[in-house]
Amino acid sequence: MRMYDLITKKKHGEILTKEEINFIVDGYTKGNIPDYQMSAFLMAVCLKEMNLQETIDLTMAMVNSGDVLDLSPIVGKKADKHSTGGVGDKTSLILGPMVAALGVPVAKMSGRGLGHTGGTIDKLESFPGFSVSLSEQEFFDNVNRMKLAIIGQTANLAPADKKMYALRDVTATVDNLSLISSSIMSKKIAAGSDVIVLDVKCGNGAFMKTLDEAEALAKTMVEIGNGVGRETYAVLSDMSQPLGKYVGNALEVKEAIKTLKGQGPADLLEACMTLASYMLLGADRAKTVAEAEALLQSTIEDGSALKKLAEFVEVQGGDASYVWNPEKFPRTEFVEEIVATEDGYVAEILTDEIGMTSLVLGGGRETKESEIDLSVGIKIHKKVGDYVRKGESLARLYANDLTKLKAASPRLQAAYKLSKERIEAPKHVLGIVTKDGCTRF
Ligand code: URA
Repeated sequence: MRMYDLITKKKHGEILTKEEINFIVDGYTKGNIPDYQMSAFLMAVCLKEMNLQETIDLTMAMVNSGDVLDLSPIVGKKADKHSTGGVGDKTSLILGPMVAALGVPVAKMSGRGLGHTGGTIDKLESFPGFSVSLSEQEFFDNVNRMKLAIIGQTANLAPADKKMYALRDVTATVDNLSLISSSIMSKKIAAGSDVIVLDVKCGNGAFMKTLDEAEALAKTMVEIGNGVGRETYAVLSDMSQPLGKYVGNALEVKEAIKTLKGQGPADLLEACMTLASYMLLGADRAKTVAEAEALLQSTIEDGSALKKLAEFVEVQGGDASYVWNPEKFPRTEFVEEIVATEDGYVAEILTDEIGMTSLVLGGGRETKESEIDLSVGIKIHKKVGDYVRKGESLARLYANDLTKLKAASPRLQAAYKLSKERIEAPKHVLGIVTKDGCTRF
């Protein structure tokens, strides 16, 4: 086989075989195929597309390019959740303990944040001492014993994706459905869970800007997952504003704790309930969404989900007293209110800009090596559709560095767009995609 011939084949829109796709992915990962040939191939994929079978074959070639976690030592059907990335998204911290409290194993491999969306591990490290460096045996033992454990992503998880994604990023070949969905699904499949629930976001703070684009991506990923024997669902959700009221690592952990006490904001609770319901359905713990939601609600009411969070934090070396006394999380030195300069309805929030504001404050990483300040962030006082009077606070900044605060403040102000016209508050959960198709709400 020659890479030149395979590029030509795709350039003419022909279908590649599994062997041909394996040859490309394997050759590129091992360095036998140079970047310039892979770039030409990726561009041909963007222009001529891949069908579902090719996309599945591409996904599995990337899965098999590195370590594949075998979770069989863990008893029961394992459920995992993956979000395409959003600002203020702390759902894993809430639904992990809820689902685990109901006996469904959650063996999660998570990443750190890069750019303006935070990673679950960074958030959890707000608990002093918390660590994700468990051995594989400890990871399995913890999940078997208490149904919840999180480890960091191993360096050798889908290395083909890592290399291809870096190349796509600089060759204008990111935005192709087959390439995006195989990239995301290769990492989830390699992480080993039986049930995969995807949170596919759309809106100005998401990778996919429109609901139609999000639905198309969700359908492809659901087909890939089910096509390789993983029960896969996707929830379509709104990211035209931050999720919940807080953005920033420790601030989001505090909001997660509040939510587990039954005092969380409605959009965040709805997101967790929906995603967790499908985890329970997939793991055969509930037969209907209504039954799943009732079970999940009971973990908040009887305190079992909060207790599960504390147990999990403690077992992974963290100080669980913070769960019971969240006022122990460090406070920032400075706070500043961003106020409305006129009366009106909040018409739009530039969600990416909210994420960038948190990054500017020191709450996110600009490069992989950046140190982050876990205590800084933003409290959102007004969301889309809310009425605000001149002088009233739209949002509050929490900062430890006056120079950073000075840079963040105009950014946050500019992220709010007001209107004199009444604006409808957007729904958060917009649809669900299963192997039977999409239902929009
Ligand atoms: N996220 C990924 O992991 N891969 C893509 O291709 C796009 C977003």
